[in-house]
Amino acid sequence: DTRRQLIADLPKAELHMHIEGSLEPEMMFELAQRNGVDLPYADVEAVRAAYSFDCLQDFLDLYYRGMSVLQTEQDFHDLTWAYLQRCRHDNVVHTEIFFDPQGHTSRGVAFATVFEGIWSALLRGEAELGITSRMILCFLRHLDEEDALRTLDEAEPFLDRIIGVGLDSSEVGHPPSKFQRVFDQAGDRGLKRVAHAGEEGPPEYVREAVEGLRVDRIDHGNRSLEDPALVEALVKMNMPLTVCPQSNLRLAVVKDMAEHPIRRMLELGLHVTVNSDDPAYFGGYVNDNFNALVEAVDLGREEILTLVRNSFEASFLPEVERAVHL
Ligand code: HPA
Ligand code: ZN
Repeated sequence: DTRRQLIADLPKAELHMHIEGSLEPEMMFELAQRNGVDLPYADVEAVRAAYSFDCLQDFLDLYYRGMSVLQTEQDFHDLTWAYLQRCRHDNVVHTEIFFDPQGHTSRGVAFATVFEGIWSALLRGEAELGITSRMILCFLRHLDEEDALRTLDEAEPFLDRIIGVGLDSSEVGHPPSKFQRVFDQAGDRGLKRVAHAGEEGPPEYVREAVEGLRVDRIDHGNRSLEDPALVEALVKMNMPLTVCPQSNLRLAVVKDMAEHPIRRMLELGLHVTVNSDDPAYFGGYVNDNFNALVEAVDLGREEILTLVRNSFEASFLPEVERAVHL
């Protein structure tokens, strides 16, 4: 298929990928053994069989359990290095990865351990694979803002290597406005800002993220479509939405891939990109996500090109580096 080939061949940027969500079951077992962690699964097949989710929270419960095998700097390095191999395979040449420090510091793993493990792999990825990258620190929204503020303070020595902050975890009941102060502080420190919004939460949360948190991108944003005035505003400000098709399907944000709104989003003029979110949990990396759309909604050549161009335009690469990819 020529569209599959086009997807494979095009250099791409990925803007929405949680590094802890790239932990494949094989590595989960390897690290569990290395660190003496007991897993509640008999084998790799049992882990994969457990990956059947009704909603975001179903997934998050397994996601937080899975990350408990990550303990040493080497673990975080190995995890990130494995993801970068997938990037090379998929011809992802630039990636802006999320990490969830509170998922680790809360169980006694130091911020520096997490950070330096990921960072050393990203450096190696640039040197050996030519893949450029950035790190985005996500706050867990089910925790309170004080915890997020403490995390931003802990990150202080590393901020020159962190491009921005994000907001993830359980959305409903934890609106962006809950994190106004910490996002203001992040902005004062020169950090970019993104937030998951409108995945399960209402369009109002997207509005809060844009107007209150002053985000540079919206992660997911699917439910914006329920509010035409909001869509119009997002189009007018050219706000990128980092859409994750296989995640949407697996978390029941869409009922069927054939009903995925990506084409409607493009037609409305929204600045959408395609991303893998948590590739080890949702059945694939970036190319798999594009291919799933090609098969289910007959995504065409021009649409593929637009989505890929959007991924670089919406990236936090400096203007001159972005221009090289466009
Ligand atoms: N949504 C919210 N939180 C997350 C996700 C997601 O898709 N993946 C990892 N943490
Ligand atoms: Zn996400």
